[in-house]
Amino acid sequence: VFYAPQPRSRLYTTASAYLRGLSALLQKAPQHDEGVRAFEARLVKMFPGQEAIAMPMARVGIYLLLKCLIQPGQKVILSPYTISDVVNMVLCAGGVPLFADVEANGSCNIDANEVSELLRTEQNIGAVLVTHMYGLACDVETIVSLCKPLNIPVIEDAAQAFGARVGNRLAGTIGTAGVFSFGLLKNVTAFVGGAVITADRQLERRMRQELVQFDQSAPRMLAKKMLSGLMFDVATFPVVFHASVYWLFRWAYLHDIKFFNNKLDTDSNPVSYRVLPKAYQHRMTGAQAKLAQSQLGLVEKHIDDRVERARLYDEGLRGLSGIQAPPFRDDHSHIYLYYPVLAKQRDAVSQSMTRQLRDVQISHHRNCASLPCFSEYHRDCPNAERAANEVIYLPTYPTYREDQVKANVRAIRRFLQEGV
Ligand SMILES: Cc1ncc(COP(=O)(O)O)c(C=O)c1O
Repeated sequence: VFYAPQPRSRLYTTASAYLRGLSALLQKAPQHDEGVRAFEARLVKMFPGQEAIAMPMARVGIYLLLKCLIQPGQKVILSPYTISDVVNMVLCAGGVPLFADVEANGSCNIDANEVSELLRTEQNIGAVLVTHMYGLACDVETIVSLCKPLNIPVIEDAAQAFGARVGNRLAGTIGTAGVFSFGLLKNVTAFVGGAVITADRQLERRMRQELVQFDQSAPRMLAKKMLSGLMFDVATFPVVFHASVYWLFRWAYLHDIKFFNNKLDTDSNPVSYRVLPKAYQHRMTGAQAKLAQSQLGLVEKHIDDRVERARLYDEGLRGLSGIQAPPFRDDHSHIYLYYPVLAKQRDAVSQSMTRQLRDVQISHHRNCASLPCFSEYHRDCPNAERAANEVIYLPTYPTYREDQVKANVRAIRRFLQEGV
């Protein structure tokens, strides 16, 4: 008998989330929406000493921060291993991307030594943007210590790291500002949304001045994301997934059918743009804020659940030759939004796992430093290139069962040890 596995991802959406989303669609947010203010106040409680500003999307937070912090034409140091939209936010804000490679140890995080070298050799740097990739806290403390004497602001892209810790502080609170995403696949979801936190009151005021110029409600983007969410939820609903969806996508993957494969790639056609799309220029509604707020109480527990899955992966994969596992951390310095492993024979591993009835995802992050659409800003970033070619994400979501984790480990071992 062929049993389909649990799907590679599941959303944090529920029936009541869709009801809240529907009410958000009908809502015209007043200038000072109560739900949004309450959510921001709750974030301030979680991140003491910070101001919090709800955002339409994390990327818009990055854009507005850069717009407030840099002069047009200034360089922005950032990791090339990210989504292409982040690079585009630098361009939209008038900045010039300057790529600093990720670490050689497979962390997928920006290398502080590279940043240091660029700060030493390049002129006119307006900001450094660091990313806590997959929920693993990057070396932001070193980078802040390099930037402080030069008066260069550091923005933390914690889109994938809500609740992650850097020592005894929270990711997002170490630099000048932190950015979170509450998009569909995140550990807190408002279908679409984000937040910026900063201890700099003046920066907060300027960000709010920018934000009031945006539309007051988000119907089109929200409707689009709710529809994607609904399709995803239906497709990964156990009966549907087991009876049809898994087999269809498995067949498409093994036969390289782009039409289906591209549906699972969130950055399948990267292009560059220099004007903030109109669709991004809206504000979070109160109903979305309430939805995100309703999930905040579970963040720590869900991180613990993910760490437990990471522990099992670590026990099963550590030391296996042919695969590089992330560090195992149970102090929340890694929240394991996924469990990313690097495999030299990545595509063969992923195909073998699929043949062995597993459902995993290869990296949809590119090495943006070598993308044709950003060729003007090309820099040699071999570690990011390697990550883009070698990363597979293994699922860690809270309802992903222990037997599924073990089956993934077994499938990888069978491929590496027996060539199955
Ligand atoms: C590292 C990183 N930065 C930024 C973003 C953008 O988040 P949003 O979709 O909320 O704009 C994402 C989204 O997945 C991301 O993974």
